[in-house]
Amino acid sequence: MHPDFKILDSIVYHHPLVYLDNAATTQKPQCVIDTLTQYYETLNSNIHRGAHYLAAQATDRYEQVRRQVQQFIHARHPHEIVFTRGTTESINLVASSFGWRFLHQGDEVIVSGMEHHSNIVPWQLACERAGARLRVIPFSDEGVLDLQAYEALFNEHTRLVAVNHVSNTLGTINPVEAMTQTAHAHGVPILIDGAQSVAHMPVDVQAIGCDFYCFSGHKMYAPMGVGVMYGREEMLEALPPYQGGGEMIKDVTFEKTTYNELPFKFEAGTPAVGDVLGLGAAIDYLNQQGMQQLAEHEDCLLQYATTRLQDIEGLRIYGTAPHKVGVISFLIGDSHPYDVGTLLDKLGIAVRTGHHCTQPIMDRYGIPGTVRASFALYTTTDEIDILVNALHRIAPMLM
Ligand code: ALA
Repeated sequence: MHPDFKILDSIVYHHPLVYLDNAATTQKPQCVIDTLTQYYETLNSNIHRGAHYLAAQATDRYEQVRRQVQQFIHARHPHEIVFTRGTTESINLVASSFGWRFLHQGDEVIVSGMEHHSNIVPWQLACERAGARLRVIPFSDEGVLDLQAYEALFNEHTRLVAVNHVSNTLGTINPVEAMTQTAHAHGVPILIDGAQSVAHMPVDVQAIGCDFYCFSGHKMYAPMGVGVMYGREEMLEALPPYQGGGEMIKDVTFEKTTYNELPFKFEAGTPAVGDVLGLGAAIDYLNQQGMQQLAEHEDCLLQYATTRLQDIEGLRIYGTAPHKVGVISFLIGDSHPYDVGTLLDKLGIAVRTGHHCTQPIMDRYGIPGTVRASFALYTTTDEIDILVNALHRIAPMLM
């Protein structure tokens, strides 16, 4: 029984659900679901606008979550936290605003070869508009970024680095502190895609020293539809707004508009207030679990699963870096990942199959995709045993 996560007690095709697709989205604890319901039952109103009681209460709660997020990632100021719809929107915001202000013909943006499409395509669009180009950090067969090659990519045209903290496909934890130091030594700002890290380890943006850190609520036990763009105050001050609309302005005339102060300059229109409050509840939940304990639990699961999976005939793991989160991508023999995923599904086991929005990783290995099992705070070794036993049954059918 999972008192906090009723969905995990589901029966799928007559089997108890084994949910191992947490890198796609995590399940939501009851406190998050209750927060959403309570918001709509008791507090629903538009924030920062109304002169009435409900609007004031909702505004207070919304701004309180901003401070919670600030503390959770140890930002210096609450106004460095911008609420968005998710990591994708956060990165698009920075790529657009930064691109408009700072990218010009002949400039370069460094990304890594293990980025999610969300941290490639927004930069390609920004580069296309400016006449700039992408440079790519290669990685080893194990899934480790080549830091010498990274250093060698910098030149007088480099304007920004955009890398993920954790690869959603390989599970690699990248050395973002060292990569930030390298970028700053060349006078270049750095954006970190934290979509796959923030729910799995303590994150301290001041210790990392990065200029931007982007993540989604729904991968950290919060509702879908809310995300965060952390930006260092000086960087945010330097960027133009991303979208125009209500709340991001100070004064509007037909001749000229002046913009609101941080963070409101970047929050045009009515935000997802209920989802933001749900994010606050998820942060409370994570803090109760303890981020360090949770990281240790997931690391034990990773070690256990990696050892057990290696016993399966014909199984190859993609992503064997020494520093990983609980994400395991694999293939069995010549079988297609989709076939493995479908057979696992019929046994009640939820995994993701395909390229995981990281086609360049698949091209790097010359494969069509992988099967990916990804863990969360509620994952147990019993569930890993169920996966391993299922794969022992399935593997001979696929060879
Ligand atoms: N980015 C999510 C994943 O890796 C959807 O599955």
